[in-house]
Amino acid sequence: MSEATKSGADTVADSMSDGSLRASQRRSDAIEADIPKNPQRYRLLTGDRPTGRLHIGHYFGSIANRVRLQNAGVSAMLVIADYQVIYDRDDVGAIRENVFSGIADYLASGIDPVRTTIFTHSAVPALNQLLLPFLSLVTESELRRNPTVKDEMEHAGGRAMSGLMLTFPVHQAADILFCKANLVPVGKDQLPHIEITRLIARRFDERYGRAAPQSPVFPQADALLSASSAILGLDGGKMSKSRRNTIEIGMSADETAALIKKAKTDSDRRITFDPESRPEVSNLVLLTSLATGQTPQDVAERIGDGGGGGLKRACTEALNDYFAPIRARRAELVADPGYLRDVLHAGNQRANEVAGATLGEVRAAMGMDY
Ligand code: TRP
Repeated sequence: MSEATKSGADTVADSMSDGSLRASQRRSDAIEADIPKNPQRYRLLTGDRPTGRLHIGHYFGSIANRVRLQNAGVSAMLVIADYQVIYDRDDVGAIRENVFSGIADYLASGIDPVRTTIFTHSAVPALNQLLLPFLSLVTESELRRNPTVKDEMEHAGGRAMSGLMLTFPVHQAADILFCKANLVPVGKDQLPHIEITRLIARRFDERYGRAAPQSPVFPQADALLSASSAILGLDGGKMSKSRRNTIEIGMSADETAALIKKAKTDSDRRITFDPESRPEVSNLVLLTSLATGQTPQDVAERIGDGGGGGLKRACTEALNDYFAPIRARRAELVADPGYLRDVLHAGNQRANEVAGATLGEVRAAMGMDY
């Protein structure tokens, strides 16, 4: 048996059992409780693929949480995953525009570029070089079984899988491990990424004699599982830029109003929060709740018999009020492209320093420090 497949219980597919999910949830809860006391124990990494504009699903689902953790004192790295854009498409799209629009969204939302290092894959060669030793630590069949790869395939519309798609979980492990992140905020569906990252970290240190009681090169990363319920698109489907059912962070108040006006609802005038049987209505209630800080039940009660029209008015007002200051800051940032470039260049420089140091340790562990 090869070393990479040594322990069956170690494989990504096995690790996604119910027990493992519960264990991940327990670790996540314990970390959430520890963060206010010991923020300096954590190094966080998250990221987004710059395939389009960021929307309010990104904002409420992850960006707001990143800002919260950053402000709690957790040191954070934010990868704009530009090399991930091409794992399932033939061209990079409006890559430059998407990257800088994303940076403006982050900063306007409260990401502080001093406390959070914002960088792009393509500018950090040492990060990408980690992919080579890491690829030797996983088998082809483990990659094929990865639930996220399978899921991405299903959304690929039948096109053949690229080698980059097959190996992107390993690249993502490099994102996490280059900066020795021990904390990755994700939804449950992203847990396989964390599992493969833990596996690669463990195998690297075992193979190169750095496992405990030696000093391991890599930490074991934990998922910080997000509690927030999934936000749907305005048509009731998954909110996604490719489905054109999103409200972008950077849209105007009028554009927001027009989109919500066309959102799907139902004919029952009594507004309730019941995501199972009234997904579209409940989604507008949820958005209103997130933007006002009221519970979904209170929002529904307040609108009462106001029907879809009343709900849409409340939702539009809540979102536009909430995003008004963010959008105003965003407009100022977009008007200063030189500043956005400086932020990215400084982030890339910092990421290169971190990646260079880690690659140095990897070379030393492998006996390649000539
Ligand atoms: N795949 C993530 C997304 O589609 C972005 C990402 C890249 C990421 N590298 C990461 C997320 C590492 C968490 C950890 O949004």
